[in-house]
Amino acid sequence: CGIVGYVGTRDGVPIVLEGLQRLEYRGYDSAGIAVVGGGKSNGLKLHKAKGRIRDLQSSLPKRLKGAPTIGHTRWATHGAPNDVNAHPHVDFSGRFAIVHNGIIENAPQIKERLAAEGIETTSETDTELVAHLIGLAAREHDDPMAAVRAALRRVEGAYGLAIVDAEHPDRVIVARLGSPIVLGLGDREMYVASDVGAIVRHTKQVVHLEDGEIAQLEPDGFTTQTLDARPVQKVSELVDLDAADYDLGGYEHFLRKEIGEQPEAVERCISGRIDERFSTVKLGGLNLEPHDLRAIKRVHILGCGSAYYSGEVGAHLIESLARIPATAEAASEYRYRNPVIDPNGLYIAVSQSGETADTLAAVEELTRKGARVLGVINQVGSAIARSNNGGIYIHAGPEVSVASSKSFTSTCVAFAMLAIHLGRIRDLSPADGDRMITALRELPAKIAAILEQEDQIEEAAGWLAGFENAMFIGRVRGYPIAREGAQKIKEVAYLHAEAYQAAELKHGPLALICPEMPVVAVVADDELAEKQRSTLHEIKARQGPILAIAHETLPTELAERTIVVPRTEPELDPILMNIPLQLLAYHAARALGRDIDKPRNLAKSVTVE
Ligand code: G6P
Repeated sequence: CGIVGYVGTRDGVPIVLEGLQRLEYRGYDSAGIAVVGGGKSNGLKLHKAKGRIRDLQSSLPKRLKGAPTIGHTRWATHGAPNDVNAHPHVDFSGRFAIVHNGIIENAPQIKERLAAEGIETTSETDTELVAHLIGLAAREHDDPMAAVRAALRRVEGAYGLAIVDAEHPDRVIVARLGSPIVLGLGDREMYVASDVGAIVRHTKQVVHLEDGEIAQLEPDGFTTQTLDARPVQKVSELVDLDAADYDLGGYEHFLRKEIGEQPEAVERCISGRIDERFSTVKLGGLNLEPHDLRAIKRVHILGCGSAYYSGEVGAHLIESLARIPATAEAASEYRYRNPVIDPNGLYIAVSQSGETADTLAAVEELTRKGARVLGVINQVGSAIARSNNGGIYIHAGPEVSVASSKSFTSTCVAFAMLAIHLGRIRDLSPADGDRMITALRELPAKIAAILEQEDQIEEAAGWLAGFENAMFIGRVRGYPIAREGAQKIKEVAYLHAEAYQAAELKHGPLALICPEMPVVAVVADDELAEKQRSTLHEIKARQGPILAIAHETLPTELAERTIVVPRTEPELDPILMNIPLQLLAYHAARALGRDIDKPRNLAKSVTVE
């Protein structure tokens, strides 16, 4: 979900709508906007619509003008995506309108309390309950800040909130607990958003609210306090973001733009981190001394979706280069199996956004139990980044497409560096260290060379799009890439795809192989090449059509189509082999006319469990 707000002398409606458009990738099943002031009646005006921001915009009544303004784009959790459940929600008195990110955990208790006061709810959302609580609290508190504080003290759960008050048409009130809120400082105007990307084209001077803080924004400035009314002094900072990162810049889709940005993203990830002198890398943010790192007996990696698969790539890298046993697990499952904490283990949370609720919950559980947790994160200063002991920022830049591409690749590169670092303080030789850092340096140019083969990949994608199912196979370090490739094609092309370890095929799924079941095979020319070729023979014998992602040595007769990937060190093969799979999913989705950057039912950052 996304929140945008504005208070100042201009009409806030176009500013908020444009900001919402930039946050749309975070949720896009319904949207809404509320304005106080402006027009003839100085009251609260509201407009909501099911669907995208463009649906909201095209149905916008002319009278909707003015400021303060707040808006929201939603990814449904409680209640179906429709006009009634869309935000903003208004309290029973018609005075307060609120937009909310997050989830209220004690909704049933709040509902009971409201019912006791004779207040009926009209939507199925938990947000409406908070609106009513504020309305109730305003009966006892003249100051709207005090009313919001009193209401929020009754709320359990997570929220990022923006509130307008029809009786005070000069301000927006915002609050944060577990869901980001950032204030933007303008010239006699103030902005608010759940992500700085929504406001970066208006101002780069921002203030991040902390959990438990609440702020009142007026055109001339803002005040901040805690939920128990203690004033808080905030210092603004200059964000180092380019508004162009949030623009398509001539591309048809963000996914394609971001796939194309990978050479530079990888360059940024390794830049300043190579240590030639000791044939290793420098990772300044780990906050762990060599003797702490040497004591680690096991590495446990956690993440969701593509972050989880990049963690699997990372586990292989760490195991092979540092010779430390390493595994990856879905963070969404981790917390609920009451895990035994490994006192000699190093835990690593992977997240592009640094906000994914499942991953954050796993980190919090680990920290509570005294585990040592690092993060591999894109979003600087995000909730997960802040709840860790240290880690590696991947510096991929903003990723707007829901399906991850450059952040996946850069995370794998960050893991390669961590593996080299852990290896070089153990038994990885200087020669092997040099071999790896040279290979890392060559990655950007090799990724660029793969991108040059787009026409051939597009042709293969058109062919794949003609099927209803597909099987993705890989072995050992190629298997996570098969999983990520299958995931990508499911996400953006809505093609049913399954990933299998190539050798496991014969233990079951081989039964599915037939001319209607294409197989996308990740086959590096490594120590398993011979075995992989036997698998391809088995598939061919059952008339399964094969698309191979391979090195130039793969005999062409083994596959209908082959995309040849440049060689690198075997440990880094997965990073390069994944690039054609990204383009494959992109072009299959394009051939099928899918909504590539905003696939149905998905959202970029899932901030609820
Ligand atoms: C969502 C997105 C996925 C992403 C996952 C984890 O499900 O749709 O593309 O991989 O969240 O996101 P994170 O920000 O934690 O990497």
